[in-house]
Amino acid sequence: CPYIGAFQYPSKLDVSGSLVVEQLLKLATFSDVPNPAVTRIVFTPNDMKARAYVKDLMQLAGLTLREDAVGNIFGLLAGDGSAEGLVQTGSHTDAIPLAGAYDGTLGVIGGIAALRALSAAGFRPRRGIEVIMFTSEEPTRFSLSCLGSRAMAGVLSAETLARRLDENGTDFLTAATAAGYGRGSTQAMLDAARVKPGSVSSFVELHIEQGPELEANGTSLGIVTAIAAPAALRVRFSGDGGHAGAQLMPRRNDAGLAAAELALAVEAAALGTGAPDTVATAGRVDLAPNTVNSVPREAAVEIDLRDVDESRRDAVLAQILAAAEEIAARRRVRLQTEVANRDAPATCAAEVVAAATAAAEQLGASHARLVSRAYHDALFMAQIAPTGMIFIPCRGGWSHRPDEFASPAHVELGVKALALTLARLAGA
Ligand code: GLV
Ligand code: MN
Ligand code: MN
Ligand code: MN
Repeated sequence: CPYIGAFQYPSKLDVSGSLVVEQLLKLATFSDVPNPAVTRIVFTPNDMKARAYVKDLMQLAGLTLREDAVGNIFGLLAGDGSAEGLVQTGSHTDAIPLAGAYDGTLGVIGGIAALRALSAAGFRPRRGIEVIMFTSEEPTRFSLSCLGSRAMAGVLSAETLARRLDENGTDFLTAATAAGYGRGSTQAMLDAARVKPGSVSSFVELHIEQGPELEANGTSLGIVTAIAAPAALRVRFSGDGGHAGAQLMPRRNDAGLAAAELALAVEAAALGTGAPDTVATAGRVDLAPNTVNSVPREAAVEIDLRDVDESRRDAVLAQILAAAEEIAARRRVRLQTEVANRDAPATCAAEVVAAATAAAEQLGASHARLVSRAYHDALFMAQIAPTGMIFIPCRGGWSHRPDEFASPAHVELGVKALALTLARLAGA
């Protein structure tokens, strides 16, 4: 009987939190800005260095490497072939401007460490276990999040992707091809990256919480039950600009002021639901010509909004669009809007939640169920296979900041919990 004793779920795992942190900090050096801040944008030279480093670590861990057409990188710990479907884990290594060293990277470097530890423990899974470095979870370059996992789930259309140009007018296929990925056309690339039905049996992602709950409650592990529904909106106001001295106030139609009013309307719309789960952010405003002695002629605003309740989020989205129209009409500026994405929330699978809970208990770690307010590749992997997530606390609940930090002890615990969860899902 294969189900006897500790060997099914290894009781001794060789994981060093400080070694994982050392690797995270090494990865952080591949950055467009000096550490501790990290900026790493998909398919730039530093992203390519990070990819090379991840592939090295996968190989050192004895994993079998493959890469897909959109640049997702996979490292496989082979199973004995006695059960169908792969168990997958992973996260991203791209980093938004002026981010830190832990967001996403923990799930990749920690995922590799988990597989290495399982294999060193002599664990031979029935299903293969694969760690993934997903391409461009962050929307920085192409204004669309989770590109790698969307492509795997087959929910990204070629038209949508081809229209997303970076600030130099380059499309994803061109950038991916220059990086050694791609497949001739955007459609062929997406077709090649799509996961075959039934080939993945479950997915679990390790991540820092990025919020304050675990630390505040002194809880070591978070077991995610759902991922909030994100949406993004792009708004452009265009006025006539003009000379900052000579253009008198009554004649102006200042696009920058329209953007400023819209940012306030975004805040009001989110607060207006009265629900703490509604969040909305006007996080990016680009003015043109963006110079002190010109009235702003163009203002591009990118808005991020999320809620665990999808219909409430959509109502807020509609309210923000209506506010943009009202502001544009009153300020006599032209308006263009685009809903850049509008994703459904994800519910974590009971079997993955149960496996993670059992892993936390095996480790004797305090754990609590919680909702992920940030989005992750797990949001799209949930459309492929039963999915869950494991969180560890991060200092102050801070993320998307240079001082992002998780303790080596929590990192070690998170990696062990991931390993034991994967072991349960993969079977012994
Ligand atoms: C992605 O990092 C997010 O904003 O949740
Ligand atoms: Mn992030
Ligand atoms: Mn992340
Ligand atoms: Mn994220």
